[in-house]
Amino acid sequence: MYTLGIETSCDETSCAITKNCKVVSNITISSLKEHKKYGGIVPEIATRAHLQNINIVFNLALKSADITKEKIDLISVTNSPGLIGSLVVGVNFAKALSLALKKPFIGVNHLHSHFFAPYLDYKRKIKFPFLSLVVSGGHTEIYLVKNFNDIKILGKTRDDACGEVFDKIAKAYHLGYPGGPVIDKLFNDAYKKEFSFKCGKIGLDLSFSGIKTALMYKKIQMEKNGRFDLKMKTKLVSSFQYAALETIVLTTLEAVKKFKIYRVACGGGVLANRYLRCRLLEIEKKTGISFLISPKKYTGDNAAMVAGLGFYLYNNLGIKHNLKMKPEAN
Ligand code: KG4
Ligand code: ZN
Repeated sequence: MYTLGIETSCDETSCAITKNCKVVSNITISSLKEHKKYGGIVPEIATRAHLQNINIVFNLALKSADITKEKIDLISVTNSPGLIGSLVVGVNFAKALSLALKKPFIGVNHLHSHFFAPYLDYKRKIKFPFLSLVVSGGHTEIYLVKNFNDIKILGKTRDDACGEVFDKIAKAYHLGYPGGPVIDKLFNDAYKKEFSFKCGKIGLDLSFSGIKTALMYKKIQMEKNGRFDLKMKTKLVSSFQYAALETIVLTTLEAVKKFKIYRVACGGGVLANRYLRCRLLEIEKKTGISFLISPKKYTGDNAAMVAGLGFYLYNNLGIKHNLKMKPEAN
């Protein structure tokens, strides 16, 4: 069964073709460059870029999969959460295609598709229940997954998302955008405890706005002392990354202990982080907890994970949508 995945929740326009759960093609055009000068995503620019790119990406995905559009059996599209204008482009494209091709379509949750990513390409067998960790630019959440239609949030950030804070700190420190990959690259293990930053934690909920403010104050202080050079920035962001990611790791382990579930599916942009990936695998070796980490190519926003989850929901849970389905920002 061929599934077309469509992802347009933020700044990536992506279309993918999967054959059952195997990814046959996955094409993404990002409007990231257009947002760079603003240091963050501008929703209207993202929407306009999706409109320009969706058809191009769709055709490239078909070409790369070496199939015609008539071969598509199912259309799966991200319908929440995300930037509303961006979601509308993908959902309307999916609906139009569904009508034209007379093929069913299904709307999937973007965050659920992030933690479906480790199961793509039949890398692992899905065993329920499992816990999941999503760390992205808009969300930092831990879930209990009894099935893909029975998902409960156990903990989440009460303010900024982790990736968002990477981006905001890098912007304030003039290190570039997006901040995650830049800070990941700059991170120096020798400096991870140079400053002792803390993140907020209430049970399994998290807070990152305090650590963001602490980094902003450090900037002001160091600038006053004439010490805000690249070495100092490296020390500060290394200490930040260590504190933020360790808090996420610790909270995830707390959830594992509390619910006695020893499988954690992990996805989202921040899971591309080298320190975080190594740390989770190190814990896996020591404790036997399985961390099913999304392959790096599927950590950021992509349509392969959307196609994979749509295929699963349609075939295993009989979930279908009709043309009244609406995109939802949250
Ligand atoms: O999942 P994603 O592509 O989009 C959302 O759904 O938000 O995540 C994007 C976020 C950005 O904040 C970006 O800075 C962060 O993921 N990110 C990283 C890394 N690569 C991307 N954060 C830390 N380390 C990275 N290597
Ligand atoms: Zn995402």
